Amino acid sequence: MAKTTTTIPFKGTPEQEAQLKAVIAQWKGKEGATMPVLQAAQNIYGYLPIEVQTMVAEGLGRSLEEIYGVSTFYSMFNLEPRGEHLVRVCLGTACYVKGAQKVLDELSRVLAVEPGHTTPDGKFTLEPTRCLGCCGLAPVIMIDDDVHGRMTPNIVRDILAKY
Ligand code: FES
Repeated sequence: MAKTTTTIPFKGTPEQEAQLKAVIAQWKGKEGATMPVLQAAQNIYGYLPIEVQTMVAEGLGRSLEEIYGVSTFYSMFNLEPRGEHLVRVCLGTACYVKGAQKVLDELSRVLAVEPGHTTPDGKFTLEPTRCLGCCGLAPVIMIDDDVHGRMTPNIVRDILAKY
């Protein structure tokens, strides 16, 4: 299967749009409106697809380029929906020296998705991360709230199968 970035179609509800419009109305014409409006938009939709960024740009009277520049600059903004399960792979020093990159590569291969992205079925988001605070178990991955330590590439598939 070919790796993918995003193919999940945007599905916004009229209620979400009304909420976003109310936030935009609050901030329109005010200094520094972009960040709080984008944060609110992410809270409403869970992420910031281009359709939502377009609404923000039009609502605030800014260009889409400007809004996109902000949303892609700050790592707190997700441009894709989160999957049902979040798979975090620690690339902190202790995990890295014990082979975390190979574990990440295998997860990426098995899920057929690039790190930082969500599978097309919306099931998994694969996210490299910094130290998860359990270096004694390196290399470590976390799936949702479950810590899996002493990971090796060959057990990745079995662990994913539990989800
Ligand atoms: S470096 Fe991976 S848990 Fe600390």
